[in-house]
Amino acid sequence: MTALNVPAAILQRRSIKTFKPDPIAPELLQQLVELTVAAPSSYNIQDWRIVLVQSEAQKAALCAASFNQQMIMQAPVTFVFAADSRAWAKYTMEKVYEQALANGAWPEGTVGYFKKAIPQFQASLGAQAREYALKDAMIAATHLVLAAESLGLSTCFMNGWVEPQVKQVIGAGEDPDIGIAVLVPVGYAADPRLNPGRLPLSANVFVDQFSHPYESLS
Ligand SMILES: Cc1cc2nc3c(=O)[nH]c(=O)nc-3n(C[C@H](O)[C@H](O)[C@H](O)COP(=O)(O)O)c2cc1C
Repeated sequence: MTALNVPAAILQRRSIKTFKPDPIAPELLQQLVELTVAAPSSYNIQDWRIVLVQSEAQKAALCAASFNQQMIMQAPVTFVFAADSRAWAKYTMEKVYEQALANGAWPEGTVGYFKKAIPQFQASLGAQAREYALKDAMIAATHLVLAAESLGLSTCFMNGWVEPQVKQVIGAGEDPDIGIAVLVPVGYAADPRLNPGRLPLSANVFVDQFSHPYESLS
């Protein structure tokens, strides 16, 4: 199939609530995973921790942790977007520096600077560190959703779940560094959904300040 371009995928995407049992071909799933982690992250920390929930037993446990939302049982895979708020202090960070050096993207000087600046910045975040990690995971989830749409699949962002229960299901236990950003079932839509619509731009888009609503041309 020809992939939809980005504007077309954005406009066509709907939150799909029923999925066919059809599996996703392994090559297609891998392509989705690769497009998901092509997302940017603060300092390229890549602090998302993504779990593909696929087995029937894990799907049932995740569904129970998500107010029994049946999309999780129906879809062949649900991506759980977790985030590690201390990823910047962990082994993955050395790999981030190594790759950027090898690719010539970050010269030695930049790596040296980041090795000091990143811990300082992260320490300054305090309790906001979780929020920063979750932002990165949400951006990756958005990449997944648009890539899936472009490649003929459907998705639904899901906020309806109980965080400690989801953490148990994915094996994060009570790790205080791990937060859950969002769940995204992915599969082939069983039923289409209509666009519930969007507010007029002037309701929530502004120029310079809230006092100046954006006025669309049409
Ligand atoms: C962060 C987020 C969380 C959501 N959580 C759920 C959910 O738990 N269950 C559900 O059925 N829909 C969920 N939705 C889907 C929204 O209801 C849907 O996006 C919205 O009604 C707009 O419809 P559209 O996505 O088709 O444009 C969620 C959407 C977002 C962006």
